[in-house]
Amino acid sequence: MCKTQCFLAFVALSINLVSSFSWDIAVTNGDQLEFYANYTITHVERGRFRALTALAYDAVHNMLLFVDKQNDNTSIFSFHFDAEEDKQYRTLIGWRSDVQDLAFDPVSGKLFWTDMSENSIFWVSSKQNTTNNEIDVNLLIKMTDEIPRAIVVDSCRGYIYWTNINISKPTIEMARFDGSDRRVIVNTNIDRPISLALDQRTKRLYWADDKLGIYYTIESSDLEGKDRKTLLHGSYHEPNVLTVSNDSIYWVEGGHKSVWKIPKNAVNPKPEEVASFRDPPFGIVANYKVEDQTMARPECEALTNVLKNKSSINDFFNIPGDTYCLHGDKIKQNSTCKCFRGYTGIRCQTNVCENFCFNGRCNLTPEGNPQCLCKPGFSGARCQTNVCYSYCLNNGKCSLDCLKPVCKCVHKFEGERCETRVVEATVPPTTDVPCNCSDTRTNSVLFRMENLTAGDGVYVDTASCSAGWDPVRDPILMFLGALCGLLCLACAVLITKILQLKKRPRIKKRIIVNKNVTPLTARPDQCEITIENCCNMNICETPCFEPRNTIRPTLLDTKPGKEEKKNLIANMENSDDFY
Ligand SMILES: *[C@@H]1O[C@H](CO)[C@@H](O)[C@H](O)[C@H]1NC(C)=O
Ligand SMILES: *[C@@H]1O[C@H](CO)[C@@H](O)[C@H](O)[C@H]1NC(C)=O
Ligand SMILES: *[C@@H]1O[C@H](CO)[C@@H](O)[C@H](O)[C@H]1NC(C)=O
Ligand SMILES: *[C@@H]1O[C@H](CO)[C@@H](O)[C@H](O)[C@H]1NC(C)=O
Ligand SMILES: *[C@@H]1O[C@H](CO)[C@@H](O)[C@H](O)[C@H]1NC(C)=O
Ligand SMILES: *[C@@H]1O[C@H](CO)[C@@H](O)[C@H](O)[C@H]1NC(C)=O
Repeated sequence: MCKTQCFLAFVALSINLVSSFSWDIAVTNGDQLEFYANYTITHVERGRFRALTALAYDAVHNMLLFVDKQNDNTSIFSFHFDAEEDKQYRTLIGWRSDVQDLAFDPVSGKLFWTDMSENSIFWVSSKQNTTNNEIDVNLLIKMTDEIPRAIVVDSCRGYIYWTNINISKPTIEMARFDGSDRRVIVNTNIDRPISLALDQRTKRLYWADDKLGIYYTIESSDLEGKDRKTLLHGSYHEPNVLTVSNDSIYWVEGGHKSVWKIPKNAVNPKPEEVASFRDPPFGIVANYKVEDQTMARPECEALTNVLKNKSSINDFFNIPGDTYCLHGDKIKQNSTCKCFRGYTGIRCQTNVCENFCFNGRCNLTPEGNPQCLCKPGFSGARCQTNVCYSYCLNNGKCSLDCLKPVCKCVHKFEGERCETRVVEATVPPTTDVPCNCSDTRTNSVLFRMENLTAGDGVYVDTASCSAGWDPVRDPILMFLGALCGLLCLACAVLITKILQLKKRPRIKKRIIVNKNVTPLTARPDQCEITIENCCNMNICETPCFEPRNTIRPTLLDTKPGKEEKKNLIANMENSDDFY
């Protein structure tokens, strides 16, 4: 009896394990949420979003909160790890403005965000009595000169912290959840504090400062902005959002499109690349356990208690499950959704392109319908058909030529699809159909393939279709090519000849000619001559380095110049003493 129970429990446990995945960090990257553990990607959530930006994690409710910009239709969503498959996503707020960063306090249930275009911090409560199915958005702080960017909450002490990136007056500030007790805690030696993280374990704030886009620092201070430390500084690196785990600091980097980390407590740490991406990632959060953060501190008692009360966690979000639209607008009268272009489903949760094309790329038509761009060799409305499938009859071999299926028939058959039996043996069967690409415009242009048994509106990429022999152009090209080759050969021969000619000795020597044999001190009597490449001088007919006694007197006597040269050479050898 126990055995069956144990077995069932084991099965339940394994099912649970299979459906979950481990992660150290989560990253928003383009249209997907990515999860990483130990430098490898362990899970991806995609197909529902377009442009994900800010990201926050709440370990109490085991949920991620994130922003999808959706071409200006910014919405804040939550993703619940523990929920059933189709209830994992919830839309919290559709907010048609510029949400920069999010922070959630699990104790009060308040979600805060910074809005850069409104220069404001807003909040909503997830514990509203939503009788009218609407959530009330509250303005917390409206700023005049400050530009709020990153925001974090301190759930133990009840404060929010944010960074202000007005370049003429950057600050890090804090205030209570109701906006009171507002204080500037960092305003010196700071340029553009683009991100902020709070770690209860060390009771410290961490931020990345982008200095003029060239230099950067990663700094830390206590929760009052005191005891500042620079953990890392350097240049040509663009740290953006950063997050802190039990032992490391992670950040996303815009320029290299990657995630980096350093140990939290190391001296002179060396950054280590954790993952790299094709597009720049945006938000990042580290996984954590509430106990690891609170460490049973008295000021974190409220947070610890929330974790103990399962019922308060379960009925946390009072937003009715059937009144939200993931990618669409709610129609008030009957609480249904009107989906944005490209989405479908009761809650507009499905991207119409998701898994639509089998062998090709999916595009949206202006009407919002999916349309496939097939890979070469495939056709059909969903690129589901291999054009060669059952095309050649009578055991003919099918291949692609200009994207059209072409049959190579076995003996005794002919015809485009090898459908005809050869009657006269004397007629050679036409096996190859010549390629006529002249009617397909340029290679990259898409054209409609009339003769494939495709559904309506199927387009094929012709990039792989190569042009055939052109009887006018190609011989000319060949002739020009041959001519070029010959010219190059002639050039090469000439160049080698010239190089050989130049291989004569080149001598550069500076000598001091003595008029009288005087000691070193008698400088004014000396005449300085530089002989360079003496073979260019008239006086030189034999190589300069020839010993003096080999110069024949007869030659030297014939011209006045020869005498000069003789003297020069004689002096040159005498003057060797001077060097
Ligand atoms: C990462 O690897 C270490 C050791 O290899 C292991 O103990 C740890 O559980 C792994 N973490 C995750 C999240 O898989
Ligand atoms: C954004 O939302 C507005 C209002 O609901 C809608 O009219 C518009 O079409 C949406 N834009 C996009 C790109 O989905
Ligand atoms: C930045 O702050 C200065 C005052 O310090 C103000 O004059 C300026 O308008 C602010 N810039 C923005 C973009 O708000
Ligand atoms: C647990 O949460 C529920 C619902 O929020 C609340 O009614 C109850 O008082 C809480 N219990 C404790 C012990 O805090
Ligand atoms: C190739 O196609 C063009 C345009 O359809 C046509 O005018 C031409 O006659 C064709 N050539 C051959 C050899 O079939
Ligand atoms: C399609 O191919 C058949 C032969 O298989 C030919 O008779 C017909 O004219 C072609 N249709 C078009 C539109 O090219």
